[in-house]
Order: sequence, then C-alpha cells, then structure tokens
Amino acid sequence: MNKLIVANWKMYPTLSDSLVLAGAYKKSLQELRGVDIVIAPPTVWLSSIIESWSGSSRHIHFAAQNVWPEDQGAYTGEASAYLVKDLVRYALVGHSERRQYAHEDNELVREKVQACLRWQIVPILCIGEAEPVLGPNDQLNDYQWGKLRGQLLSALEGVDHQHLSKVVVAYEPIWAIGTQKAASARYSESVIKRLRQAVESKFGQAVAGEMRFLYGGSVSPSNAESFLRSEEIAGLLVGSVSTKAKEFVAICEHAVTERNA
Ligand code: PGA
Repeated sequence: MNKLIVANWKMYPTLSDSLVLAGAYKKSLQELRGVDIVIAPPTVWLSSIIESWSGSSRHIHFAAQNVWPEDQGAYTGEASAYLVKDLVRYALVGHSERRQYAHEDNELVREKVQACLRWQIVPILCIGEAEPVLGPNDQLNDYQWGKLRGQLLSALEGVDHQHLSKVVVAYEPIWAIGTQKAASARYSESVIKRLRQAVESKFGQAVAGEMRFLYGGSVSPSNAESFLRSEEIAGLLVGSVSTKAKEFVAICEHAVTERNA
C-alpha cells in the first residue's frame, strides 16, 4: 500500500510564497508514483493553490488545516466542512496547536470528525501526549497514556461503524512538534501499536486493522526513512519542513522507496 505523506504548511506561507511552493511541488511530485500526497495550505489560499494546480495528479490531494463542525451560520472567521467540501479530500482535525491556542476539547474534535465524514472529507485526527513520561517497560505512564487514548476513542465515539476505518489518525507527540526532536521510530511504533489495540478492543479487529496511523513531529528527510520502514506507520505528517520543497520531495521519495522495499 502507498504511504500517505501530508504537508501541513501551517500559517507560514503568504499567497505568493504558497504559489511558488505549490509550483515547486508540482514540478517534482506530479510524476512521482507509489506515494499518496496531501497538501494543507493555509485555508485562505486553498482556492488559489487549487486553481494554479491545473492538470490531474490522482495521487495528490488537498486538505483543510481545520474545519468548523456546523454547516452554515453565524460563525465569524470559521470555514465549515460543508464550505470546503468541494475543495478538499482531507481535513486536519484536533491538531495540538488548535487544542492549545483555540482551546479545542475532545467534544469539539469529535463534532469536527463527524462533520468531515458527513461531507465525505477524510478526517486526519491529530492526537498526542504532552510529555514523554515513561512508566514501566518504557511505555507511556498511565496518566499520559490515559489522555492519549481518551483523545482517540472520544473522537471516534458515535461514528458510523462503516466510516470508522476511513479516519486517519496522526500520532503527533506534542513534545516533538516544531522542536527538531522527533520521537524515535521505535517509540512511535510502540505507541501506535497500543493505540491500534485500543481501537480493536472498542471497535473490533477489522476496523483496527484497516485504520491508518501516521507519525508527525519534527519529521525531516534524515529521519523519515526510519518511520516509513515500519509497517505499523502508514505515513507522515510533515509541518515546517514541508514549506521547503526540496526537503519535502526527498521525504516523498523515501516513501516510494519504502513502499517498494
Ligand atoms: P513539525 O510539525 O513537522 O514542524 O514538527 C508537525 C505538525 O505540527 O503537524
């Protein structure tokens, strides 16, 4: 199966930066096969980037960095899943920066997951623990694990069984985001295994087996390969490095190699 590589441009590029970046992506990625790529520009530039992206590239899709759960109404400054549904195939939901700065809680994140699925948008559900505090057997201690597991299961609650495995989970330890201190592949793999088991005990083996888990947090060309080698890890969510076309392309190329390995 192709790995999924997501570029989260966050609130970095201006419109002209975004157009240049999209042009550079297009040149190098359009012909690359064996990887699925998702680009999440700042929502305000989505239409312009998509317009500039003429021609078909079936392995490249767009994402919103956030959505509002209500379809329409008096929600100044927000863009709902309903409003962006014709522009994007994916949406990030529950990113730790939104949980931190916009005070999003698990309940709101759950509503966003449901809004995405209602409008055929694939939610990329971001979850992550605040600190790498380990307990026995080098596993997350009970408090951190409880919070992480809670973020995951609470967001999936009430989702129609047939849609559950469409949700993509991005495991992003908060301490690894923007710090240039990525978690090790071994650590991420073991957390993802536990998360998958938690999904299995609540929703069954079939859903857990199909659900895709990504890793995110200080991903770079030099560490991407170690994550991509793992069968447990279906892909990567790349933040600041995705605003450097050359580095992002290198990560996508690693994804092709690991797929073929
Ligand atoms: P980073 O961000 O790659 O800059 O650490 C990842 C993310 O926030 O999705």
